[in-house]
Amino acid sequence: MNISIFGLGYVGAVSLACLARDGHRVVGVDVDQAKLDLIAAGKTPVVEEGMVELMAEVAAGGRVTVTRDTRDAVMRTELSLVSVGTPSAPNGSQDQTAIVRLASDLGAVIRDKKAPHVIVFRSTLAPGTVDDVLRPLIERESGKKDGEGFHLCFQPEFLREGSSIRDYDRPPYTIVGASTPEPVALLKQLFGHLPCKFHTTSVRAAEMMKYCCNNFHALKITFANETARLCEVLGVDPFEVMDLVCQDTQLNISPAYLKPGFAFGGSCLPKELRATMYLAKTRDVELPMLGNILNSNRLHIEHAIAKVLESGRRKIGMVGLAFKTGTDDLRESPLVLMAEHLLGKGLQLRIYDPEVHLSNLLGANRRFIDRHLPHIGALIGRDLESVIAGSDLLVVGLGDRTTAEVLKRCVRDGQIVLDLAPMVDRSGLDGRYMGLCW
Ligand SMILES: NC(=O)c1ccc[n+]([C@@H]2O[C@H](COP(=O)([O-])OP(=O)(O)OC[C@H]3O[C@@H](n4cnc5c(N)ncnc54)[C@H](O)[C@@H]3O)[C@@H](O)[C@H]2O)c1
Repeated sequence: MNISIFGLGYVGAVSLACLARDGHRVVGVDVDQAKLDLIAAGKTPVVEEGMVELMAEVAAGGRVTVTRDTRDAVMRTELSLVSVGTPSAPNGSQDQTAIVRLASDLGAVIRDKKAPHVIVFRSTLAPGTVDDVLRPLIERESGKKDGEGFHLCFQPEFLREGSSIRDYDRPPYTIVGASTPEPVALLKQLFGHLPCKFHTTSVRAAEMMKYCCNNFHALKITFANETARLCEVLGVDPFEVMDLVCQDTQLNISPAYLKPGFAFGGSCLPKELRATMYLAKTRDVELPMLGNILNSNRLHIEHAIAKVLESGRRKIGMVGLAFKTGTDDLRESPLVLMAEHLLGKGLQLRIYDPEVHLSNLLGANRRFIDRHLPHIGALIGRDLESVIAGSDLLVVGLGDRTTAEVLKRCVRDGQIVLDLAPMVDRSGLDGRYMGLCW
């Protein structure tokens, strides 16, 4: 395939070398003449393991050319990969000057190009950038429509500096965000041979997932480092601790707890976090990330309360009360805290939880509910059907199949379902369904 690559930094230069190695004819484009000269001479513009040898090899193969001329590059190729820099602006926002200028230039060239050109954005972009900024700009400059006169898509790049050739050849997966099939088909030709899954999604989801991946990596590093700082003052070997933590592939290094839903609660997590922060305080160790988790959790409960209040509905049915499905443990249940708040706002509340039997509540569980919902006896509904029938908004905290089936059968038109425990199958509730975060 004939491919142009705009931006020959770490991402662009490695892609250029690997694509040329794989037999494609590649035109490298950059505003930095020094980088172009290096590539033209078979040298690497970035320090990366294996790049010196690979650049020499592909330059000798004659499949790489360079230019500063956008028009020339677009006219000579069918697909452009865009990997120009998107650094931080002084206020923390993404500085999109380079990509916006390039998109405008690409649009002007596409105006004169007969065959539909494919543009694949590979720079990391703030979610919404392609749909809200780049597509309208290219459509305006080219006088053509995306999907007709040209094709846009977004393919996040996952390579890491220091191991980028290896990462190019073995990415975790290929993700393509596109609104038409044409660019996906071309990218399958380019990357379909890689030993990983090839996912297609919306452009916005692809942009967002790349941010999410980087944020998650930063979170993991910070978690390990905060743990190590606390271990240090407690005289514990942080390597041993983190090694053991990572060996749990059921709950720790796994998809467990990574599904968006409601706040956490219960008898363990809030208590252990508080005690961790107390330990850190007494030893003068600052742990800002761990120290803010309970804050974030509280905001999540407030977010759900705000959704109920904003709906204007006054008869609220709460499906589930314990801190998670399948238990009667009410201690620090976010649903109890939510119920307490809604009652305080004067809303009518009926509650159903198949596991919560008031006569069986003992000890700390009993004390917690007596403190937060002293009149709980008057709030408990006979069964799920009657709670649904008597409410105009349902707060659903039970994520089991049986509850989902009853909801589908009994929820009436006009009722709203606020799902705090993403249900097994939401189909059948369309139109009445309101997730916590959407
Ligand atoms: N570096 C990484 O490990 C990595 C990994 C994944 C994604 N990314 C993302 O990929 C993008 C590129 O990252 P990088 O580290 O390669 O950047 P970089 O700063 O090393 O290189 C960017 C290149 O773009 C060039 N450029 C600027 N404007 C241009 C234009 N109008 N036309 C042609 N070239 C132009 C610059 O001269 C520079 O050579 C960024 O959005 C980054 O967030 C980087």
